[in-house]
Amino acid sequence: MKYLWLSLVIAVIQVTYSQGPPFTEDCRNDMYPPKPETKVPTYVVNLDADPKDRWKEVVTDKTEEFKYMLTVVKNLTGSFFQGSLIDFIDKNFPSIVSGLPAPYGDEIIGIAAATGIPLGEVVLYNVFYELFTLCTSIIGEDPNGKLYHARNLDFGLFLGWDIGNDTWWMSEALRPLVVNIDYQRGGKTVYQAVHFTGYVGILTGIKPHVFTVTMNERFNIDGGYIGFIEWVLGKRDAKWVGFITRDAMESCNSYSEAMDLLANHKVLAPAYFILGGNQSGEGAVITRDRNKAVDVWHMNDTGHPWFILETNYDHWKAPLFLDDRRTPATKCMNKLTQQNVGIAGIFNVLNTKPMLNKLTTYTAVMQVNSGHLETYLRYCPTPCWPF
Ligand SMILES: *[C@@H]1O[C@H](CO)[C@@H](O)[C@H](O)[C@H]1NC(C)=O
Ligand SMILES: *[C@@H]1O[C@H](CO)[C@@H](O)[C@H](O)[C@H]1NC(C)=O
Ligand SMILES: *[C@@H]1O[C@H](CO)[C@@H](O)[C@H](O)[C@H]1NC(C)=O
Ligand SMILES: *[C@@H]1O[C@H](CO)[C@@H](O)[C@H](O)[C@H]1NC(C)=O
Repeated sequence: MKYLWLSLVIAVIQVTYSQGPPFTEDCRNDMYPPKPETKVPTYVVNLDADPKDRWKEVVTDKTEEFKYMLTVVKNLTGSFFQGSLIDFIDKNFPSIVSGLPAPYGDEIIGIAAATGIPLGEVVLYNVFYELFTLCTSIIGEDPNGKLYHARNLDFGLFLGWDIGNDTWWMSEALRPLVVNIDYQRGGKTVYQAVHFTGYVGILTGIKPHVFTVTMNERFNIDGGYIGFIEWVLGKRDAKWVGFITRDAMESCNSYSEAMDLLANHKVLAPAYFILGGNQSGEGAVITRDRNKAVDVWHMNDTGHPWFILETNYDHWKAPLFLDDRRTPATKCMNKLTQQNVGIAGIFNVLNTKPMLNKLTTYTAVMQVNSGHLETYLRYCPTPCWPF
């Protein structure tokens, strides 16, 4: 199904851009700080509380936005499956929840209870990030050996073009759901992450003083839906991609422990994990198939030992030329120079088109030693790729 989407997208993009490449611009140096109203709010999730209760405050605040987003999903899927898909999900997905590892199953049950949204739909929502994200992640090291890890999360490719607004429905519906979560135990921060409210896995996370991680989707023939089907049918030894990163936050106490878990444990879907440690040189892109890492690429091995970046293509292969965010991002990092690595510098690189595009929902920047995370909603008015 993903490949059907993808080939349609490519066909449309080819026609649209037969006159020239997707919209790009000179490297920006003036995007930071962004408008204060684009900064996302932070909520505390108390890990000492019952998993069924710990998301209550956040999801209660965002129930309307959550419901709206699910309406968009239903409209989009409904137009392809005449509504039968959602009926199927409402009927069959609730049973999936009991097979999820602790604490995720109970957290999802709690979220459904607090919002009144059918359990099957909350489960669906916790699945589909494994399928539709396009992103750019960068780790940069400043001249003092301090690491900055940042990412754009681009979501919603082809999920409903709004002709009147020149926007993608899904990306629009997701932005109001973005929150920073401060996970605490005993009143102290254990780790922090950026979430779409209602999704309990981690796509962007920081364990202060220890490591940072981001997940980018990897397209592969042996795709996530196969892993998901196997999982539904009872083969449960693989971890969900969004859950393995949160497991890493919970249980790994060093860069090398996180590396080991993220590189070696079976996962449901192919993915890239971009992992940063707490000292000079500790940055890597782990390219995963479902069984294991097919490649671990270290920062010192990139040809530019002070940064490493990943979009949605294997680093040893050329990116899809219509979606080449790697070349402009590399160019802008080189133009930035190591001297200027920092929150503002990397934010500017990520907010240059086409790294910034109409699907970009947020930019997050993390600094591991200070435990700093800041996240901003991002918009890209026309003209801006895609469309
Ligand atoms: C969903 O579709 C209905 C009927 O076509 C429409 O009235 C409604 O505005 C749509 N809602 C969203 C959120 O797209
Ligand atoms: C489109 O724009 C209108 C007017 O700005 C706004 O009210 C509406 O919510 C937008 N629709 C979507 C799906 O974002
Ligand atoms: C980096 O992580 C290691 C392993 O957890 C820890 O021993 C060390 O103190 C950390 N260094 C800094 C600068 O936080
Ligand atoms: C790069 O770093 C990795 C791990 O930190 C190490 O195993 C490898 O030998 C290094 N490679 C080079 C070329 O220095």
